[in-house]
Amino acid sequence: MRREATEPAALRSWLLHAPDRIEGTLRVPGDKSISHRSLLLGALAHGVTEVRGFLRGADCLATLEALRALGTEIIESADGGVQIKGAGPEALREPLTVLDAGNSGTSLRLLAGLLAGRPFFSVLTGDASLRSRPMRRITEPLAAMGATLLGRVNGDFPPLAIRGGALSGIGWRSPVASAQVKSAILLAGLQATGETSVTEPTLSRDHTERMLTAFGVSPQQSGTTVIVRGGATLHATQLDVPGDLSSAAFFLVAAAAQAGAEVHIQNVGVNPTRTGLLDVLTRMGAAVDRDHPRIHGGEPVADLRVRGVRLHGTTIEAEAIPRLIDEIPILTVAAALAEGVTLISGAGELRVKEVDRLAALAGELCTLGVAIAVEGDSLRITGGRRLRGAAVRSRGDHRMAMSLAVAGLFAEGETIVEDVACVETSFPGFARLLESVASGCGIREIPTSGCNSIAGASQLASRFEENSSL
Ligand code: S3P
Repeated sequence: MRREATEPAALRSWLLHAPDRIEGTLRVPGDKSISHRSLLLGALAHGVTEVRGFLRGADCLATLEALRALGTEIIESADGGVQIKGAGPEALREPLTVLDAGNSGTSLRLLAGLLAGRPFFSVLTGDASLRSRPMRRITEPLAAMGATLLGRVNGDFPPLAIRGGALSGIGWRSPVASAQVKSAILLAGLQATGETSVTEPTLSRDHTERMLTAFGVSPQQSGTTVIVRGGATLHATQLDVPGDLSSAAFFLVAAAAQAGAEVHIQNVGVNPTRTGLLDVLTRMGAAVDRDHPRIHGGEPVADLRVRGVRLHGTTIEAEAIPRLIDEIPILTVAAALAEGVTLISGAGELRVKEVDRLAALAGELCTLGVAIAVEGDSLRITGGRRLRGAAVRSRGDHRMAMSLAVAGLFAEGETIVEDVACVETSFPGFARLLESVASGCGIREIPTSGCNSIAGASQLASRFEENSSL
């Protein structure tokens, strides 16, 4: 099924070219996965949870609004902090309307897990992209625990209708390594009788497990199995959300791929279930250092320093994919700029992200002159060719948009990245930050209509800039 991640409203594009240099010190917005979980666990807990560094991106705001619709009081402060007034799961109320997760798979799947435990009716939906992402991976285990879930195509696609309550713990073996699946089952398990365990083929990100410990309920972990006991009380806490490594990734790759470049990114989450990109960039030859390692709320955090070199190709095996699942789009850009072949194997999960990222990457990078091929569930990139500026499409996928912009920094001539409004889902302010680090890249926002020729786009950009800012 062909999908575009966002509805076709308000299409904007970026126009940019190669910068004079890539260097600087920056901070990226808060971690998306941790921000979602802070809201959900805060709502289930007793007392006021205070969150600093919360990501005010559209995805996390979808979770925030859904929880408000369920009766949780949430206060957003001017300094970007959030207060969640939790009163336990029993305080959640049947929503008066459909809950809209927008473009966010994490919102929809984790909320489904939470709602499976509540004895009322709710409906979860999302945008066109989310409505075509598979849900049987969560509806099956949640139904096995005793909830009633209905969705399109035998429960596989949203909208999902849920009547929850009276759950029993299960032992679930997930066929996919997915933190969204694992977390949905754990959120239901907290409200079930007895124990609930989830076993995955490879460990996925473990933010839910770590944050549960911060809320006073420690899950048991053994290998790739995690166990929670139902009925425990979560106690409100204070949380500091570190910068999102998946957002830092765009700057790390931009610096790593340019010989002589150096970028420092302060306060980034370096949870070992997320740091596959750092290992791969090191293997490709870049110098990546972690300064001032520390722990905040059970999450490892560091300041990252990367120095660029001429990268060389590498191999990424299937078992390594969960640790860099969201970084594959930007890694393909690193691979295109590296000498030699990079093979990324066992990346089939990319087909069911915001868009089919395997097809989208191959299609769009090809337009920039990259030698890239999809071979089954793998990607083969032969790096070292000169990239040439062209008009490419994000296809409504935020990580595609930002990855293509980084590719544009290395292309000859101007690059247009079409349809960039989607970047708001995870990285508000990306373009401004890119301009500050890739000084002279001239990144400007222009309307998508009328900019399908590079020549016309520059003129259009100057006129458009008079009326808007990035
Ligand atoms: C996420 C888990 C990942 C990731 C997504 C965020 C999370 O999805 O791709 O962006 O916060 O749990 P899967 O674990 O389902 O692959």
